[in-house]
Amino acid sequence: MSDKIAYSRQGDIAVLTVQNPPVNALGQAVRQGLWDGMDRAEADDGVRAVLIVGDGRAFFAGADITEFGKPPLEPHLPDLINRIEASPLLVVASMHGVSLGGGLEVALGCHYRIAVPSAKVGLPEVHLGLLPGAGGTQRLPRLTGVEAALDVMTTGRHIGAAKAHALGIIDVVEDGNQMENGLAYTQRLLDQGAVRRPVSEMDPPAAIDWDAAFEAILAKGRGQISPAWCVRAVQASVEKPFDEGLKTERQIFYDLMQTDQRKGMIHAFFSERAVSNLPELKGVEPSEVQHIAVIGGGTMGAGIATAALLSGLRVHLLEMSAQAGQAARGRIEGNLAGALKRGKINAEQHDAILGQALQIVTSYDALADVDLVIEAVFEDMEVKKQVFAELDRVCKPGAILASNTSYLDVDAIAATTSRPTDVLGLHFFSPAHVMKLLEIVVGDKTAPEVTATGFALGKMLGKISVRAGVCDGFIGNRILATYRTAADQMILDGASPYEIDAALEDFGFAMGPFAVADLAGLDIGWAVRKRKRAEGHAPKRDTTYADTLCEQGHFGQKTGKGYYDYAAGNKARVPNPDVLPMIEADRARLGITPRDFTHEEITRRYMAAMVNESAKVVGEGIARRPLDVDMTLLFGYGFPRYRGGPLKWADIVGLEDLLKDITSYAAEDPEFWAPAPLLEQLVAENKTFDDLNKKG
Ligand code: 3HC
Ligand code: NAI
Repeated sequence: MSDKIAYSRQGDIAVLTVQNPPVNALGQAVRQGLWDGMDRAEADDGVRAVLIVGDGRAFFAGADITEFGKPPLEPHLPDLINRIEASPLLVVASMHGVSLGGGLEVALGCHYRIAVPSAKVGLPEVHLGLLPGAGGTQRLPRLTGVEAALDVMTTGRHIGAAKAHALGIIDVVEDGNQMENGLAYTQRLLDQGAVRRPVSEMDPPAAIDWDAAFEAILAKGRGQISPAWCVRAVQASVEKPFDEGLKTERQIFYDLMQTDQRKGMIHAFFSERAVSNLPELKGVEPSEVQHIAVIGGGTMGAGIATAALLSGLRVHLLEMSAQAGQAARGRIEGNLAGALKRGKINAEQHDAILGQALQIVTSYDALADVDLVIEAVFEDMEVKKQVFAELDRVCKPGAILASNTSYLDVDAIAATTSRPTDVLGLHFFSPAHVMKLLEIVVGDKTAPEVTATGFALGKMLGKISVRAGVCDGFIGNRILATYRTAADQMILDGASPYEIDAALEDFGFAMGPFAVADLAGLDIGWAVRKRKRAEGHAPKRDTTYADTLCEQGHFGQKTGKGYYDYAAGNKARVPNPDVLPMIEADRARLGITPRDFTHEEITRRYMAAMVNESAKVVGEGIARRPLDVDMTLLFGYGFPRYRGGPLKWADIVGLEDLLKDITSYAAEDPEFWAPAPLLEQLVAENKTFDDLNKKG
């Protein structure tokens, strides 16, 4: 028998204990072990019931995702689950930790289910571009009805034991240890003369309007298809005999397994975990951070302070004046009220944070004891230098000094202190207590322990932390500046901001770039353009329409007008009628005759610019691996998760074709469209970006 399954006897009960750390994924050896365990139990004299139970952190975290995309190995999970369910013995699952995907499907194949109160169940396959493929779409609706089953599988969310019990997924919830509870429950069932209770033999649930449900879920998915296909599989559970329904589910599962969406989402799953795992930090110990300071309590400072407070850190926030301090406190109070409302904290925690953990100060001397400082003052090098000089004066030796600058040179900031090894960039995204991305900007002189502490802080705050090198805009904003320039150039040539937003929303972005600019505030881009022009880095055909909007006081949502007019609410997004005449003025000034753009051409040019700049960012070592770029765009810039990230997307569409596009655009503007040397090299060597991820 496989060493992943331990077989033991407790009186009339055979116990199959799963031992596949860290999360008992259902790899081939586990499946074989369970199969053999069932055979052995059935042949074992006196055995009347089988208890399946997990060791360690989980019952089962589901199918082994590392096996996906490879030839399937026997025994297949659906066959194993059918075999468990068909056993003449009474089969019981005792669940703790998570029972996800195939893990919950194994439990649904058992005749009875018991769980500890902390157990969680779910069918998260849609997050991998799939649907439950081992009977989940056929068995779950028989227990919960169609509506609840579709909610579980199309959202993929984890459900607590109490809720799962209320839905009929779990029979009994009992405090204690999964092994002891499981044995006692199984014994009770035997004593009561309980009989086998296969879910497959239960009546199918009532039908719903399948086409309407399919269309509604498809529309919600912004192009992602697997949630909608759950509807068709569940439809089969109602309309077909169980075995036929299983076949339908299996066919859809295999079809989804072949899709680019599955590839993109599984890339995202593993990259999300690999991104904070830097080979250079192996064995480097982070320093302890319990008490931080935030300098500046505007949009970002208040959000960063909120994130830190919600993670249990003490925060001293320094503002320029008592009045500005009050305003900062008001912003933080607003954020915390939201956290309280959403149940992230309770009333007691809320009061403790505001009463004790947060201190608003105006004097640097109050910061002598903090472990780490995050500066979030105006984006102005002179102001930042003054702040760092003060921090250098008062902070204790070993304190880490970080800047939240969006674009400025972290090395130049570090050089103004006597301790450049303790300086780094911690670039949060707005709103900082909500957005998951944190760029950790490592300067020339940043010490490894300081970088490691940045990553440890990111983990504490629940962020996805990405290592970035120093350059104008680091990873994300540098790439954004390039694809935004490509969009501006298309506008000069005839596209409208609204066509561009629509094309990219069709591609799967949560919002197009002009809607995003309105949300972030048009003043940010305005300041960057002015700086770039002053430094001689303006595009060859510079646009002025965005400046005109700002000069007229329109900064986007916060002023009620930008590319869109928000008079009817932020969601209404009515195009601002003043914008197209501003664009036409630009075209007239440059003597451009506008032409039509299809959505396809818009997307191709925009994505080509994004991929080309991403390849430069990796080639120059600003990002260490392609996956670092992918995770930056996914978690900070609304890139559709089901496409994996720009470089995974590039691998999927083919690097050779992309390079051909870029080369053809270079005929118009050789400087802007200069192909990334790394892209040329990968094409010449017939390799992919993902090959570079695998080097570790
Ligand atoms: N297969 C293979 N490896 C898995 C895995 C799985 N199903 N689930 C987790 N792992 C690995 C992770 O990659 C990670 O590896 P690493 O240490 O080398 O980076 C390790 O296990 C620990 O995982 P986390 O770091 O994510 O640990 P957490 O405690 O934060 O989270 C978890 C645990 C909630 C189980 C989370 O890992 C998770 O959500 N896993 C995926 C669950 C899932 O999607 N299951 C469905 C699979 S598809 C399926 O079952 C198809 C079926 O219907 C036929
Ligand atoms: P903001 O203008 O909302 O806030 C800046 C705050 O700093 C103000 O409250 C101001 O009173 C305070 N301040 C200015 N000088 C100070 C000083 N010398 N000492 C103490 N406090 C001082 O600006 P925002 O948007 O919060 O940006 C702050 C920094 O974060 C900038 O470097 C910006 O580039 C960066 N950033 C901004 C993002 C955004 O979306 N707004 C995203 C990521 C980074």
